[in-house]
Amino acid sequence: MDLYGRHFLTLKDYSAEEIYYLLDLAKSLKAKKKAGQFGHSLEGKNICLLFEKTSTRTRCAFEVAAKDEGAHVTFLSNSQFGYKESIEDSAKVLGRMFEGIEFRGFKQKTVEDLAKYSGAVVWNGLTDVDHPTQTLADFLTIQEHLDKPLNQVKFVFVGDIRNNVAYGLAYGACKVGMDFVLLGPDALEVDPEVKAYCEKEAAKSGGKFTITANIDDVAGADVIYTDIWVSMGEDESLYAPRVKMLSPYKVTKELMAKTGKDETLFMHCLPSFHDFETEAAKSKKDAGLDIREVTDEVFRSKHSVVFDEAENRLHTIKAVMVATLGHQ
Ligand code: CP
Ligand code: NVA
Repeated sequence: MDLYGRHFLTLKDYSAEEIYYLLDLAKSLKAKKKAGQFGHSLEGKNICLLFEKTSTRTRCAFEVAAKDEGAHVTFLSNSQFGYKESIEDSAKVLGRMFEGIEFRGFKQKTVEDLAKYSGAVVWNGLTDVDHPTQTLADFLTIQEHLDKPLNQVKFVFVGDIRNNVAYGLAYGACKVGMDFVLLGPDALEVDPEVKAYCEKEAAKSGGKFTITANIDDVAGADVIYTDIWVSMGEDESLYAPRVKMLSPYKVTKELMAKTGKDETLFMHCLPSFHDFETEAAKSKKDAGLDIREVTDEVFRSKHSVVFDEAENRLHTIKAVMVATLGHQ
């Protein structure tokens, strides 16, 4: 499989075979690293990590993965990008210096413009509407924990069903033929274009794409996945209405029990508000808002594979960089 020179902007651009190829490559790179062996496939390559939004996992995963394979990395935030200089001009400048560019920020169009104008290979590290590297890490984690192929998995994303992680997972799930469910209140209407795309792809792959507000639809789920209720870049004033509409969709022990299965995985991209330890959750609690999208009990239960997902960000992001930019 030759993915050299390909951008990684969304899984909509990748076939099921290409997704499986990246997952297999991630598995072998993970095994190599565990054995203390490192590659040289990115030697001589300069990689720019461009961030408009904050990050822990994505930034570290790209940086460590690039260094493991011999690349040089520049972390760029608070730059002129998009403020004192147009995205087109910045893209052309970065393209004169870097062979690979990771972008995390607001608009999907920005990552597309970077790909269009820079001449470098561009990877999406999260936008308002997609998070494709997260999906790969989550699929690898499922393969490691469940004794069945991805196309036999029932996956339920519960909560803010219109966010970037939900859409990214939906694209990947429909490509590989999962039984994929978006579970959340009717008031959070899924973008009709996303719905139409996923229904079409699911029909082609033999998968299933469902949007529901009924919590009983978690029955038979192999995976229960959630994310925070207000995402980066969204207005603080959304917390109150979101808490009101999403509290019935908080992942609790009772919701997990409704799957009817003891081996259901609990997954979360992180960061998570599962207790009031963080400044953000505590300040909202003081204002009368319980913004926890999952209970601490579930987060720390035997079902939870959240830190495996976090580690797998490293191995899957490495696979994406090696496949698209690595020496052949
Ligand atoms: N899951 C994820 O993208 O985490 P960061 O925001 O820490 O990068
Ligand atoms: N939906 C979250 C994901 C963080 C990894 C956000 O965009 O803030």
